This record gives sequence, structure tokens and C-alpha cells, in this order.
Amino acid sequence: MSTTTIGPAEFRNVIGHFLTGVTVVTTRHPTGPQGITASAVTSLSVEPARLLICLNRQSSTRGAVVDTGRFVVNVLAADQEALARRFAAKSIDKFASLPFSVDAHGLPRLAGTIATLGCRVVNEFDGGSHSIFIGEVEDAAHAPGTPLGYFRSRFIGVDLPG
Ligand SMILES: Cc1cc2nc3c(=O)[nH]c(=O)nc-3n(C[C@H](O)[C@H](O)[C@H](O)COP(=O)(O)O)c2cc1C
Repeated sequence: MSTTTIGPAEFRNVIGHFLTGVTVVTTRHPTGPQGITASAVTSLSVEPARLLICLNRQSSTRGAVVDTGRFVVNVLAADQEALARRFAAKSIDKFASLPFSVDAHGLPRLAGTIATLGCRVVNEFDGGSHSIFIGEVEDAAHAPGTPLGYFRSRFIGVDLPG
């Protein structure tokens, strides 16, 4: 059997043709709230309700998720591109002057999103450069609005008919 090896740049380029939504995964850390823009988010199981997220091993948010054992998936609305860019950057305090609330577990929940899912980590797997976290969804809520999308390194504010 022949195998083809592709490099990271080519893989990023090709997989970037898969349109995704955009989320900010938030958690807490003794130093303060943490968050990362993440599109590697997938529904996994309906009963029990579970989803998975993939976080880079270099990500500071990943370490905080390991320590806390919990995370929140904040699904961004079409007008939240600036938020996606902010949480995709390395910055000391991504939450500065940002409207957010804190849930019963002390985790931040961003304002203005179209959906929120609070999760407890039930498993972590090694996926290579990224860790795969399986989260049991303990609470979920949604709000009216249209989603933010990501395609070929560009943000798309999705405009739904009707
Ligand atoms: C649209 C978009 C989606 C992203 N999805 C992921 C993802 O699913 N997992 C991940 O580890 N990084 C993802 N990133 C990159 C992180 O947001 C970025 O590396 C961030 O700086 C990590 O922050 P932290 O180290 O403070 O946690 C994405 C970036 C963008 C712009």
C-alpha cells in the first residue's frame, strides 16, 4: 500500500475548504478566565449528550481545561468576528472590557453568542499536535441570531434567508 505524506501547510490549505462554525471555548484558571477561538468542535453523542473539542498542546487554554476539568463552548454570532480574532491571538487578558458572565462553576460565558454549552471533561485523547477532549454537556442554551462561519482562512457572517 502506498502512503502519501502531506505537510502542515498543504493540510491546512485543503482542510480549510471544509466550512465550519466558529466558537470560543472558555474555562477558568487561577490566574483568571481563559479562552481560545476553536472551530474543531463536533457533536459526538446524543444520549448521553457529548461533544468533542480539539485543542493545540501549545495552547494555554488547553492546560487550563486539563486543570479545571470543565469548559464552555460559546457559539459565535455573525457579528462577532472581532471576538474570534481576539481569542485567536496570544494576549495576556483576552477578557479585558468584554461583557461576560460567570457560571456556577466559575467559568466565563460570553455575551451576544447564539448558543452556549457547559461541559465536564470525561476523556482526553492524544490526537497528535492537538488533544481531543470529550465533554459531557451539562447545560445548553440558545438565542436568536445567525452564525459566524470560517472558510479558507476567512470569516463569513452567515446571512440566512427568512
Ligand atoms: C477560525 C479559527 C479556528 C481555530 N480553531 C482552533 C481549534 O479548534 N483548536 C485550536 O487549538 N486552535 C484553534 N485556532 C487557533 C487558536 O485560536 C490560537 O492558536 C490561539 O492563539 C490559542 O490561544 P491560547 O494559547 O491563549 O489558548 C483557531 C483559530 C481560528 C482563527
